[in-house]
Amino acid sequence: MEELFDQLDFVENPLFESIIDDLLEQQYSVIDTFFSEEEVTILRTSLLEKYEEDKFKKAAIGNKFEEQIIKSIRGDFVLWIDEQKQNPAEALFFKKINQLVNYLNKTCFLGILHKEFHYAVYPEGTFYKRHLDTFQNDDRRKLSFVCYLNDQDWKNENGGELVIYKDENGTETAKSLYPLPGRVVIFESQLLEHEVKPVLASERYSITGWLKTR
Ligand code: OGA
Ligand code: MN
Repeated sequence: MEELFDQLDFVENPLFESIIDDLLEQQYSVIDTFFSEEEVTILRTSLLEKYEEDKFKKAAIGNKFEEQIIKSIRGDFVLWIDEQKQNPAEALFFKKINQLVNYLNKTCFLGILHKEFHYAVYPEGTFYKRHLDTFQNDDRRKLSFVCYLNDQDWKNENGGELVIYKDENGTETAKSLYPLPGRVVIFESQLLEHEVKPVLASERYSITGWLKTR
């Protein structure tokens, strides 16, 4: 009986369906209006408040690396978000994320049980060299998620593109994506290498996270 109600409860969501189609077809999906302009402003305000309170830490890449070496790999500052202590901005973020996770679990049998998200700030001049998101000995990371919280007047000349590398029958392709406000990129954590190109002007704001299995 329960199951019957579960099925009746199911409403097809065109946005989520297109994400699933993209992931199956090309291992990544780009959604330009995942968050509205207003939602981006709310989330950016929350990020900036915490950044100005000095709550962010230089991002790590494990623990056996010297600071100099880390800086030559990635230069962003991050702050992990605790869903249990969410502020109103984070509540609107997690509401959307949880809708997506529930949808993926119902339709794709992905079995996403955990998730983790952090705010990220890339100051001018910083970057994140080409990498795979599973390098931190965390093979539970299934899908990587990035949403950009930059100002509405973000210019492509500011740099900071996300470049996704793919192998297409032995030939490497590189897809460049500008960090436009409201844009979300979702990709297969274990399959796609990617990098963040140097930020040439301004500061680059985002929330990055992972949907994890087991
Ligand atoms: C990361 C990452 C991409 C981006 O934090 O692991 O690859 O566009 N971020 O910020
Ligand atoms: Mn990454």
